[in-house]
Amino acid sequence: MIPQRTATSSTLTLTVNDTAHTVTADHRTTLLDVLREHLDLTGTKKGCDHGQCGACTVLLEGRRANSCLLLAVAHDGAHLTTVEGLGDAERPHPLQEAFHRRDAFQCGYCTPGQIVSGVGMLCEAAEGHPSHVTPPQVLQRATGAPAELDRDEIRERMSGNICRCGAYPHIVEAVEDVTA
Ligand code: FES
Ligand code: FES
Repeated sequence: MIPQRTATSSTLTLTVNDTAHTVTADHRTTLLDVLREHLDLTGTKKGCDHGQCGACTVLLEGRRANSCLLLAVAHDGAHLTTVEGLGDAERPHPLQEAFHRRDAFQCGYCTPGQIVSGVGMLCEAAEGHPSHVTPPQVLQRATGAPAELDRDEIRERMSGNICRCGAYPHIVEAVEDVTA
């Protein structure tokens, strides 16, 4: 029997950091690999490539996502923000400044993911989204008011981002600085 030929790649458009890009990618290509290999945006890191470490965190339509778990072909037309879109050396994002000030990294490999995740987490908290450790009495209020971010909340909300250097205490301090 002659095997049926099927398309194995597609052309799609992604808006990354407010710039539209059209790429043709194999259907098995993840958003992470499109960013790094097609668009040369290497700030987003590949750690585990299995959704376990958070190094590849981006904002997808404003919400945190592990880009190593997402097939690019399924996100035609999507809007992404990567660490390159948050700030640069001349105009860093306040959380980037806080990471620098608090010395919240060692090797730095997890840092882009930590910072993008921190920015996403601050937005989620500002919108009133609870976390696993948000007290029930706060949930019952259901006011939609911003969630209060103590250290337990910050640790829980950042728990998807692993730091193999163990810089966690300073990472929490950096996020806390921006919260304040
Ligand atoms: S590289 Fe995506 S979660 Fe580790
Ligand atoms: S600073 Fe090295 S893995 Fe986090």
